[in-house]
Amino acid sequence: MLGKEAALFVTSGTQGNAVAILSHTNRGDEIILERNSHIYLNEVGGLAVMGSLMARTIEGEMGWIKPEDIRASVRGDNIHHAPTSLLCVENTHNTSGGIPLTVDQMKADWDVAKEHGLGVHLDGARVFNAAIALGVDVKELTQYADTVQICLSKGLSAPIGSMVVGPENLIKKARKYRKMLGGGRRQVGIIAAPGIVALTKMVDRLVNDHANAKRLAEGLSEINGIKILNPVKTNMVYIDLSDLGWTGIEWTEACAKLGWKSRGTTSRLRLVTHYGIEMEDIEAFLQGIAELVPKV
Ligand SMILES: Cc1ncc(COP(=O)(O)O)c(C=O)c1O
Repeated sequence: MLGKEAALFVTSGTQGNAVAILSHTNRGDEIILERNSHIYLNEVGGLAVMGSLMARTIEGEMGWIKPEDIRASVRGDNIHHAPTSLLCVENTHNTSGGIPLTVDQMKADWDVAKEHGLGVHLDGARVFNAAIALGVDVKELTQYADTVQICLSKGLSAPIGSMVVGPENLIKKARKYRKMLGGGRRQVGIIAAPGIVALTKMVDRLVNDHANAKRLAEGLSEINGIKILNPVKTNMVYIDLSDLGWTGIEWTEACAKLGWKSRGTTSRLRLVTHYGIEMEDIEAFLQGIAELVPKV
């Protein structure tokens, strides 16, 4: 499906990114990442701890690292510098609001990376959402990465698991790292089986999640005091409740009254649509929440 030679089942997206990065790099290398990427922000600094790698971060434009910024960040052949060996990209880009990077954007980054002999790893936790939103075959996107991590457990709805795909030689190394990290399970079939359902039955329906997220954002934007923070292109809606005088706590309580679980920590939070939430649920939620928010 992703146009690669070999694949490996891993426990989680974080484990998948870790084994892929370790397979591409040597201790002391520098790798280029987007400043708000999941790998950099939310994977416990694993690249430094496990790989002895330095992170060179670049602020992207809605998650896309501009090719000229990659070019300017690659270290030359200078005895003082850590060698740059890998570029990591994320598609869809989570913290920008589930924004899909286009085929052209992926290609532009790939071209610069390859000009400089870098490997390219795609954190494609939600790359099927990107493909569906762009109306392209997912291979069009993944052709511009050597290795890809996909999550079976997010929009694709499996209870657990991710895959790492790529060329045989890198997946062979990744398998060894997976073992080192305790992810080589003899009993894996029982948790891998739902992944087959995820890949064969749950991809095309992502279009519903996207339509539901769009409607959710539209409806919430009509409520005074709720701001939508991102252009809604896939399954994510980021909202800001500060004009309501609400923090996440009031939000969570209001949702609970309506029978919904939604975890808010601050006045900015993320809503994600998924399997099991239908358009009529969105409409009912919008009606309910409109009645519960303070009038501003
Ligand atoms: C872009 C991205 N990559 C990787 C991950 C990590 O996945 P997991 O929670 O399975 O470790 C996430 C999780 O939200 C993510 O959003």
